[in-house]
Amino acid sequence: MRPKITIVGAGNVGATTAHWMVTRELGDVVLTDIVEGVPQGKGLDLFEATPIARKDVRVTGANGYDETANSDLVVITAGFPRKPGMSRDDLLKKNYEVMQSTIEKVVALSPNAILILVTNPLDAMAQAAFRLSKFSRNRVIGMAGVLDSARFAAFIAQELEVSVENIQAFVLGGHGDTMVPLPRYTTVAGVPLTELLPAEKIEALVKRTRNGGGEIVALLKSGSAYYAPAAAVCEMAEAILRDKKKILPCAAYLEGEYGIRGLFIGVPCKLGARGIESVIEVKLTAEEQAQLRKSADAVQELTTVLGV
Ligand code: NAI
Ligand code: 2OP
Repeated sequence: MRPKITIVGAGNVGATTAHWMVTRELGDVVLTDIVEGVPQGKGLDLFEATPIARKDVRVTGANGYDETANSDLVVITAGFPRKPGMSRDDLLKKNYEVMQSTIEKVVALSPNAILILVTNPLDAMAQAAFRLSKFSRNRVIGMAGVLDSARFAAFIAQELEVSVENIQAFVLGGHGDTMVPLPRYTTVAGVPLTELLPAEKIEALVKRTRNGGGEIVALLKSGSAYYAPAAAVCEMAEAILRDKKKILPCAAYLEGEYGIRGLFIGVPCKLGARGIESVIEVKLTAEEQAQLRKSADAVQELTTVLGV
């Protein structure tokens, strides 16, 4: 039987995730959203593309949750972007309300699913979903590190004029200004980046990576990135559904790893059929550890506001 995947939120990231999933033939997809007709319309449109793409999967849309029952994987993209006049805390609370109105419903019908969180602010929403779902920590995973690493890799490939396939980029920390790209562990065909570019050039690429989401928002004027975020979700989904045991940077609930306890933050994880099968700990310098701590503190400020 094909895996069943639910995507909550059929907006830009949700629908594009469904698109990438169809192209990789990952499983049958149910899109659900509060807007009437949109998940059904996008689902049908995508399904009608499958004979051309030659992919044997079904894509359907719904406004409720009955259709999502017994999903193997649930991706949460429902939520709102920040609008003019809204504070970070306003967005935090508004999207927390979305988590409250979606997570319990979806997990009640799919009690064995693995959850991938996308909604921002990512690390805090993953923590909210973890508390609301009451799932074990291996089954609640936040998507950000794959996206942030892909951006870093793309900028490095562009700078060095080499194939993106040669780049193995490494980014830790929360999804935001305090993320921690690690040039020391970033390689180009196995060679550390630090041996290929001068420090000031690397710093410029790190800065661009930290501002990667903002750069797209400034160009689009309304809305935020969705092609790369959706591709990142798909990479994680494939690792899980095909039990690839792939090491990818994910937001995970830490219980002492990296000296952090009781908090979601981006770290390298082995993803397979059980979700996060292990958290990989790498040695950090004192400065890198301090940057990770600072990033964790920024996430903790948000989780404290929510009380999650
Ligand atoms: P969008 O506005 O295009 O789509 C959001 C969808 O959620 C809308 O269709 C809306 O109707 C739906 N929705 C709202 N409340 C709902 C509810 N209670 N139940 C079901 N559906 C509901 O936004 P987009 O671009 O798809 O982004 C979605 C979220 O993902 C945002 O919070 C965004 O900031 C975040 N994001 C996170 C990234 C990451 O790296 N973690 C990357 C890109 C986006
Ligand atoms: C991004 O990094 C908006 O979080 C989103 O593009």
